[in-house]
Amino acid sequence: MTQEQYIETNKNRFLDELFTLLRIASVSADPKYSAEVFKTADAVADSLKKAGAENIEICPTPGYPIVYGEKIIDKNLPTVLVYGHYDVQPPDPIDLWKSPPFEPEIRDGRIYARGACDDKGQMYMHIKAFEVMMNTGTLPCNIKFMIEGEEEVGSSNLGPFLEKNRERLKADVVLVSDTGIIANDVPSITTGLRGLSYVEVEVTGPNRDLHSGIYGGAVANPINILCEMIAAMKDENNHITIPGFYSDVVEITTEERAEMAKAPFSLEEYKAHLDLSDIHGETGFSTNERVSIRPTLDVNGIWGGYTGEGAKTVIASKAFAKISMRLVPNQHPDKITELFKNYFEKAAPKSVKVEVRPHHGGFPVVTPTDSIEYKAAAKAMEHTFGKKPVPVRTGGSIPIIALFENILGLKTVLMGFGLDSDAIHSPNEHYGVFNYFKGIETIPFFYKFYAEMKK
Ligand code: BES
Ligand code: MN
Ligand code: MN
Repeated sequence: MTQEQYIETNKNRFLDELFTLLRIASVSADPKYSAEVFKTADAVADSLKKAGAENIEICPTPGYPIVYGEKIIDKNLPTVLVYGHYDVQPPDPIDLWKSPPFEPEIRDGRIYARGACDDKGQMYMHIKAFEVMMNTGTLPCNIKFMIEGEEEVGSSNLGPFLEKNRERLKADVVLVSDTGIIANDVPSITTGLRGLSYVEVEVTGPNRDLHSGIYGGAVANPINILCEMIAAMKDENNHITIPGFYSDVVEITTEERAEMAKAPFSLEEYKAHLDLSDIHGETGFSTNERVSIRPTLDVNGIWGGYTGEGAKTVIASKAFAKISMRLVPNQHPDKITELFKNYFEKAAPKSVKVEVRPHHGGFPVVTPTDSIEYKAAAKAMEHTFGKKPVPVRTGGSIPIIALFENILGLKTVLMGFGLDSDAIHSPNEHYGVFNYFKGIETIPFFYKFYAEMKK
C-alpha cells in the first residue's frame, strides 16, 4: 500500500482517535483538571505504542509528565526528535462556545474543540504520520517523540528534563508542528518566534475597601492608579517607555524588511476578519512587523473592585493586572522582567504599595532558512501543497525551542499547519480537516527528503 492509500483507508479512524484525545480536558493551568491532564499523558503513550514506537515512558516531573517514545531503525541513520504538547488552554469563557469545548464536532470541514489545533491536532498528525511510515515500510530514519503537558504554562519542567536526558534525546534535528501557515493555498514555514516575559502586578491602596463617597477624592484608588501606570508605559507612538526596554533589540536591515514585506497580506481582510475599523500599533512598522520583529507590552487581564450585577459604590483596597511582554532577538526575558519590576516600583506614587510577581518567560527564536532541515521541510510542503512555502517570523512563543539549541545543541524546524483564524486560546478553537490530513500527508515527505539530503 502507498502512503496515500494507507491514509485514505484509515481516514475515519484517524479522525476518531483525535476526537478521543480531544475529549480529555487536559487544561494545565487549572489544578481542577489535574486528573485529566495525567489521563491524557497515558492516552498519548498508548497511541505511540499502537503506532509502533518502542521504549515508551511516561516520565514524571514535579508537574505533568513528559511522554517519550522512539523507533530506532539504524544507529547510522539520522534521528528526528518530534516535540509537541498535549496540554491545552482553559476553555473559558465557556458561554461563547457554539459546541462544548471537550465534545469535538465537525462543522463546515473544521474540527471544533479546545486543543483541536493547539496542539493536540497538530501533535497527533505526527503520531499518525509515523504510523503511516511504519505500516508502509517507508520510515527512512530514526524517530524520537517527546510530548509534554506543560507548554501552556511555560514548560518549566522540560528544561531540567533536557539536561538530564541529553543521551536519550540525542538527535539531528527537532521537528515541531505548533505554529501555522499563511493560508491553505499559501504554505509557509515559521522562522521566528517571540520570547516572553510575563508578570502579575498588585497595587494596594487603603487597607480595606472603602465607601467611595466618604473617602473618595482623598485617598489613592488603586484601580485608577494601576490604569494610569499602565497607560504611562506607552507613549504617543505606542513605543514602550520602560527605560532600557529596547536597548538589546536587534534592528533588522532594510533588505530583510523588504523581504518580509513580500509575504502575502491584506490589511482589509485582516481588519474585516476581526471586525475592526482600524489597526493599532507602533508608529513606523507594518502590521506584520509589529507582530514579529517588534516587542510588545500588553495587559492580559485586569481586575479589582466590584464587578458584579448593578452598582456598588466602593474604592477597592487592591487592583491587579497580568501583563505580557513579547520579546525579540536579543532581549533577555529575565532582564526585561527586572527592568519592568524596577520601573513599576519606582513609578508608583507614595500613596500606594506595589508588588510585581514574575511568572514564566522564554527566549525568542530565529531559525535559519539555508539549513538542510529547512530545505527538507520546504521541499515536503512544496510537494504536497504544489507551492513553495514562504518563510515567516511569527508573534507567538514556544519557550522550549531556544533550550533545544542551548541544551541539546539542536536546531528546530517549525512546520505547523494551523491558521491564524483557528481561534487558538479563544472560544470555538478549531482545526481544518484539510489541515489535519495535509499535515499527515506532508510529514512523511519531510523525513524522506531530510534523510536523502543528510546522506
Ligand atoms: N502554539 C502556541 C504558540 C504559537 C501559536 C506560535 C501560533 C506561533 C503561532 C503555544 O501553544 C502558545 O500558546 N504559547 C504561549 C506561550 C506559553 C508560555 C504560554 C504563547 O505564545 O502565548
Ligand atoms: Mn501550542
Ligand atoms: Mn497555546
